[in-house]
Amino acid sequence: MRKCFVAGNWKMNGTIDESVALAKGVVAGLTGSEKADVAVCPPFLAIPAVRDVLAGTAVRLGAQDVFYEGNGAFTGEISTDMLRDAGVSFALVGHSERRHVIGETDAIVRRKLDALIAAGMDVILCVGEKIEEREAGKTEAVLDTQTRAGLTGLTREQLAKVTIAYEPVWAIGTGKVATTEQAQAAHKFIRDLVASMFDQAAADALRIQYGGSVKADNAAELMAQPDVDGALVGGAALKADSFLGIIAGAR
Ligand code: PGA
Repeated sequence: MRKCFVAGNWKMNGTIDESVALAKGVVAGLTGSEKADVAVCPPFLAIPAVRDVLAGTAVRLGAQDVFYEGNGAFTGEISTDMLRDAGVSFALVGHSERRHVIGETDAIVRRKLDALIAAGMDVILCVGEKIEEREAGKTEAVLDTQTRAGLTGLTREQLAKVTIAYEPVWAIGTGKVATTEQAQAAHKFIRDLVASMFDQAAADALRIQYGGSVKADNAAELMAQPDVDGALVGGAALKADSFLGIIAGAR
C-alpha cells in the first residue's frame, strides 16, 4: 500500500520569520500518528531557517525548483549541491508556474530531474493540462507528453526517486478543484502509462499526488481515490491549521 505524501508548496510568499512561524505551527500540530509523509517547500532564502525548525522531526524539507548544472557561472541559480548543503532532500520540477510563467520546456524540466537523481535526491515531477487543452480533449495527450519527457530512459531504481504531482493548471490557485472523477481518471492514466513504460510493480509503487485548490474540506475525498496518493498544496499550505487539516484527511 502506498503511503500518502502531503507537501506544502509555499511559492514566493512570506518573510523568513513568517516561514519559520509557519514551519513551527506545522511541527507543533503533528501528532505522530499521521497517515501521510509530510513535507514543506519554503522559498529558497527561508530554507536554512526552516531546516532548524524541522530538525529532529519527520517533516521533510524540499525546494520549489533547482538548476540542472553544477556549481559555476550560472548567475542567479541554485544547484543540487547547494540544496543538499542546506538540508534539502527533494525538489519540485516542472511546476506549472515554471512551465507557463517562466517558460520552462519539457527538456529543461528533464535536465533538472536528472540532476536531482544524480545527486541522490528525490523529485516531485509536476504535470498537468491547461484549461484550453482539457476543453479540446487533449488532457491525456498532454499528460502523456510531459510524463514521457520526464521519465523515459530512467532505471527502475531512478524511478523510485520520483513522485508525480498531477496539477491541472486550471485548478491551481483558482479555487476550482478537479472533481474526484477527473482526478482519479488522470491519475489512473498516468499510472497505466508508467506501467507501460516500466512495469506494473513500478507503476504500483509510484506515488501520484493531486494538486490544485486542495483544502481541508476536499482533501479526504480526493485522497480516498484509489490512484490519488497525496496532495501538493499551495494556498492552503500557507496557514498551519489548513495544512494540518489536509494532512488529517490522508487515508
Ligand atoms: P494551490 O496550488 O493549492 O494554491 O492551488 C497548488 C500548487 O501550485 O502546487
